[in-house]
Amino acid sequence: MAATESPEDAYTAAPFVPGRGGLPALRRAAAGCRGCPLHRDATQTVFGAGKAGARLMLVGEQPGDQEDRQGEPFVGPAGKLLDRALAEAGIDPGDAYVTNAVKHFKFTRSEPRKRRIHKAPTLREAAACGPWLAAELAVVEPELIVVLGATAGRALLGSSFRVTRVRGTVLEERIHGRPQRLVPTVHPSAVLRADDREAAFRGLVADLNIAADALS
Ligand code: URA
Repeated sequence: MAATESPEDAYTAAPFVPGRGGLPALRRAAAGCRGCPLHRDATQTVFGAGKAGARLMLVGEQPGDQEDRQGEPFVGPAGKLLDRALAEAGIDPGDAYVTNAVKHFKFTRSEPRKRRIHKAPTLREAAACGPWLAAELAVVEPELIVVLGATAGRALLGSSFRVTRVRGTVLEERIHGRPQRLVPTVHPSAVLRADDREAAFRGLVADLNIAADALS
């Protein structure tokens, strides 16, 4: 650690989050976030996409390679699969606010100039990014959050979160000081990696059907 760097415990986006101005102000400020070291290697901040007042918020882990290049969440292979699953569950992705627990792409390279390989963020990196998610929640005020996978689950619900235990159920919890309903499910990337992709996809759609019912 360089002498001027903060210890990992002290990482936080909090000083970068503006207190007013809605989503446009948040997005602008997030572009300059230096709350943890992940900004250094990423191309850009990938902030949430969608409208304030969206009834549904989808929370993923962190941007992937494509998202990092394009600056939008869920535009790569996982996003395409998620869009198909949402459509099967009768949810219009255009009606949802889509974001991630961590706003910068974390990756490793096996060799210089080789493909960038996704690396899961630590709990502390997710906690450091928490003030952005809290600010998005305060502005969007979604009726329901779909929690996509373990990192988003731990960021929102704590380190004891286990997606296999609670997936496809409607939870009622206090999140960043607000009463909130949530439906956890697997991350779409886990579906892409599954041995039986079709069964995993069906499982994701079944959980999203629970979310669609909870919204109706
Ligand atoms: N995976 C995520 O969790 N989020 C994205 O935006 C893309 C892939």
